Amino acid sequence: MGKSGFKKISLPSFNLPFLKRQTLSLGLDIGSHSVKICELAESGNGYRLVALGSALLPPDSLEDGALQNPGAVGKVIMSLISNLKIKHKKVAISISGYSVIVKKINLAVMSEDELAKHIESEAEQYIPFDINDVYLDFQDLSTNTSSEDRTDVMLVAAKRDVVDGYLNMLRNAGLQPVVVDVDAFALENAFWANYGLTDNVVLVDIGASKMNINIISHGTSILARDVVLGSRQLTEQIQNLFGISFEEAEALKTGEMTTQEKREELDNLFTNICSQWVTEVKRAIDFYSSSQPDEMIAKIVLSGGGAKIQGLTRFFAKETKIAVELFNPFKQAAVDNKIIDPAYLKSIAPEMTLAAGLATRPVEI
Ligand SMILES: Nc1ncnc2c1ncn2[C@@H]1O[C@H](COP(=O)(O)OP(=O)(O)OP(=O)(O)O)[C@@H](O)[C@H]1O
Ligand SMILES: [Mg+2]
Repeated sequence: MGKSGFKKISLPSFNLPFLKRQTLSLGLDIGSHSVKICELAESGNGYRLVALGSALLPPDSLEDGALQNPGAVGKVIMSLISNLKIKHKKVAISISGYSVIVKKINLAVMSEDELAKHIESEAEQYIPFDINDVYLDFQDLSTNTSSEDRTDVMLVAAKRDVVDGYLNMLRNAGLQPVVVDVDAFALENAFWANYGLTDNVVLVDIGASKMNINIISHGTSILARDVVLGSRQLTEQIQNLFGISFEEAEALKTGEMTTQEKREELDNLFTNICSQWVTEVKRAIDFYSSSQPDEMIAKIVLSGGGAKIQGLTRFFAKETKIAVELFNPFKQAAVDNKIIDPAYLKSIAPEMTLAAGLATRPVEI
């Protein structure tokens, strides 16, 4: 987390409000189904969970990762923050979709300044957008060795109008955006904070309208990909199958409501859609394996509300023959059960993963 050169001073355990330092961003995950908020505080070598919550968004608030209805989204965020009594204003968000390109390029080793100049002048060769229309960022992954003076650089380009849409909405809601991340990297940060260094894992966040796949090998992201498939597909097909409302279909999907009618058709529908998700994950793994034939995937970790479908981890394990588990983004966090109900935390944890990853980001001023 880039804290080198900065010695942490231990404060006494009593906590005077005027002494409280704010060092971490408020994690805010704006999904197409709901907004998720997570506040963490640094505690010893780890984190303490301070607050978390979610609120549904009106349908069509987001379209392929871009805000469609900033006024309504801003209102939902403001009321969620006020209900949770969060005082924090410095937020970290993440984006994905057609407006974000994440690309790994291989370049000769150079200084940070030279790299910035090189990327600015050569960016159009790497990204399909007009350079004037994007925000560019990069990170030297320092993969060079003593015998190889080339290094991998992670390049991120995000459409200015889409990012500005989020920033304006947040500022109008009285917040101060300090970090704009990419969904796949927020997922990765949540993983590091809770699982430490594990070789070769596939992180898959299944939301309502998209999946983020991130394959990590030896501490770096090898492949980060978004796929336009998600759990809303299931709701829509259940709606068509039974001729029922969206809310009723959601209740059937989540198991809140059960039916014996058309049970077999319903099961087939689940199998069909979940197989499409597995196919996408397998495709990403095949791509990874073709470039690193000697590296085995140790496990797949599923997050997002879509990962909560009964039996999904078992289904993924059977189809991929790889160990699969559900992401717990609070595995290592200290939680006060008097403030946060453990049953609520357990049920909401998978879809809180991105927000938790964002909440580990230091405030950048
Ligand atoms: N218990 C459950 N079983 C099955 N599906 C569930 C369950 N709980 C939530 N979901 C589904 O998960 C989806 C919401 O997940 P999530 O909050 O991760 O999406 P999002 O972040 O808002 O969307 P996206 O990331 O695609 O923009 C919804 O489609 C919802 O129906
Ligand atoms: Mg999401």
